[in-house]
Amino acid sequence: MRTIVPFNQDWLYAPAELSLHAPDSDFTPVTLPHTNITLPYHNFDNLEYQFISTYRRRFTLPEPLNGRRLYVDFEGAMIASAVYINGRLLGEYDGGYTPFSFDLTDHLNAGENVLQARLDSTERADIPPYGHIVDYLTFGGIYREVSLRYVEPVHMTSVFVKPKLVQAPTSANPTRRAAWIEAEVAFESQSASDLDYVLEMVWHLPEMPNNVVARTSGVIRAGESSRLEIEIEPTSEWDDFDFIELWTLENPHRYLVEVNLYAADGSTLLDADTALVGFRDAWFAKDGFYLNGEKIKLMGLNRHQTYPYIGAAAPARLQRKDADIVKDELGCNIVRTSHYPQSRHFLDRCDEVGLLVFEEIPGWQWIGDEDWKALSLDYVRRMIERDRNHPSIVLWGVRINESWDDEALYTATNALAHKLDPTRQTGGVRFFQDSQFLEDVFTFNDFSNSVQPPKQTPHLVTEFNGHMFPTKSFDQEERQVEHALRHARIQDKQMGMPDVTGAIGWCAFDYNTHREFGSGDRICYHGVMDIFRLPKFAAYVYESQIDPKVRPVLRPATFWTRGDRSGGGVNPLYVFSNCDEIEVFYGEASYGRYTPDGDQFPDLPHAPFCITAFSDSHMFGSSFDDLKLVGYVGGSAVIEHSLSSDGVPQALTLTADDDTLHADGADMTRLVFKMVDKYGNRLPYAVSVVSFEIEGPAVLVGTNPFPLVGGQAAIYVRASQTPGIVRVRASAPRLNSAEVTIAIK
Ligand code: GAL
Repeated sequence: MRTIVPFNQDWLYAPAELSLHAPDSDFTPVTLPHTNITLPYHNFDNLEYQFISTYRRRFTLPEPLNGRRLYVDFEGAMIASAVYINGRLLGEYDGGYTPFSFDLTDHLNAGENVLQARLDSTERADIPPYGHIVDYLTFGGIYREVSLRYVEPVHMTSVFVKPKLVQAPTSANPTRRAAWIEAEVAFESQSASDLDYVLEMVWHLPEMPNNVVARTSGVIRAGESSRLEIEIEPTSEWDDFDFIELWTLENPHRYLVEVNLYAADGSTLLDADTALVGFRDAWFAKDGFYLNGEKIKLMGLNRHQTYPYIGAAAPARLQRKDADIVKDELGCNIVRTSHYPQSRHFLDRCDEVGLLVFEEIPGWQWIGDEDWKALSLDYVRRMIERDRNHPSIVLWGVRINESWDDEALYTATNALAHKLDPTRQTGGVRFFQDSQFLEDVFTFNDFSNSVQPPKQTPHLVTEFNGHMFPTKSFDQEERQVEHALRHARIQDKQMGMPDVTGAIGWCAFDYNTHREFGSGDRICYHGVMDIFRLPKFAAYVYESQIDPKVRPVLRPATFWTRGDRSGGGVNPLYVFSNCDEIEVFYGEASYGRYTPDGDQFPDLPHAPFCITAFSDSHMFGSSFDDLKLVGYVGGSAVIEHSLSSDGVPQALTLTADDDTLHADGADMTRLVFKMVDKYGNRLPYAVSVVSFEIEGPAVLVGTNPFPLVGGQAAIYVRASQTPGIVRVRASAPRLNSAEVTIAIK
């Protein structure tokens, strides 16, 4: 039987190329996911992570082989790995974003074994995305998880479950739905003789007491790989599937399907695998994107997988948090994994929260030689084989982002994607409308500061804004307001274009990049949130599109000053809100009620409010009072927000995203700190040094003391392997200190 053993603890690491004979004392103990170097969040050089490092793991078998094979599975190591077991080279893998495995079985010792990896994290021109300049950093390290996998000589190498819910009316039940599941299973056999087997599909439905829904049998030839399909079609026995819940954005229901492989006796279990799948129908048509038959305008953002300090080595909790931020804080319905396959934890969470995903292969504008292209094609395969059970994924990106046309390569990537997954469409991101259309969806980066009428449909805008208007969270107010309005204008425009299926802005979070891009400090400030995932005004454009029934949103795009804008004053004042009406108070005086600005933004579901009450009498040097906004939905006041006119930092706040972490040596949570006014608003020009102290079984990851600019930032806490209570205290001159407590369990 199959056993999966997590293999992330007790690694040894050296930031150098060490031989197989180097003593353990040349290494330091680490836990995966691991970054080859911890860096400041900006002002560093990409050369700093570009080196060869060595990872070593000593182990005795966690359980006996009992005739099974043992594989080591790497989920992602940046960027080229050579893996050795007990002094022998097992193999090499070129690529930082896709999984790879090696069979250890024939090289194992009876007692202790030594696995060693030589990891090359230099920007290798022969490995995508490199060969030319790239607007993002790859960082280094075994930055995703590793596991050991025991399997029988005959085992399943992939299980692709294709659930489908169809209307199957009968005269007695005209709205009857029928479920249909097909699983495509790939096998590998290293056994000496052919094997008669039975394959079984189990569907875990409380409504269906007999969980086994399909069985089939056949022969697997010795030493061969093969594929087989097993299918469950509606039978009269269970012909009413009305109890099945669809996977929707609001209720992303998932079902567990298990596939079991038995020996010919039908009872000796050889292998078992599971998939959490969703019944959903997702399709880009010429006139729009349809989810379960309903037309939905897509509104989203691009996400890079990198974080401050730790590069790409973020544990599951941080990956999942990003999906929550994009869905719940930003109110998006789609995310693009620019520009590579991302962590399974991020994708799992997208499945769980109902966030659609456009996933693509690694690259940036450049196509290399034939070997390089062969790697790209192989990445298409690895990406799709890894991720095709995710209900959230609705489109495969099978072009190198913004590369020029290459008919042979992209004909091949499309054909492979369709072969591996006939249920999903393909896209391929380009920035010119006359590009050869080989995919199913014309995915287009539109940097016209508008939305160009499509020449090809189905049409999806996959980027806009970005470098056209980089904006820092400590930029002057007018720039931050204009940044927000650019997102609002483009989302508004695409909403009014029936032949545009949606628009995915550049981008969710500021990200580290090469010197050829960004603001010189190795950050591209293109995010609607900063690198710590904290909002700029542009984030509020997205957030304010959330249904007010989910939660009311009321976000003024101002720091409420008399003299920060050119000419002073705050006229006009934009407020991003999903309320029907807003009442504006200056001090105690009501300045009236306002409705959304449907003239400027006719097609956004929740147009921004443009408040012009603060005109001539509210200029530079005139008397100044606090602002209060009250939001109304359906005639009732549901939310209010105040801003202080005094500009005085009242408090240093410190909040942890989580109050409990796993004692596994890898788990992390974010600690956000802010300098705020008396109403809790961040003060963007409150420049100060914030110092942190930590007690208990965890470490701080981040700059300490932190020279705060922009009024908000974050550091992280990483758990050790010892349970206990952790206290972190933050302090800043002239202010209170703030404390959080986290339990490590
Ligand atoms: C695009 C590119 C992105 C990013 C963006 C900046 O051309 O695809 O990766 O560089 O520009 O606006």
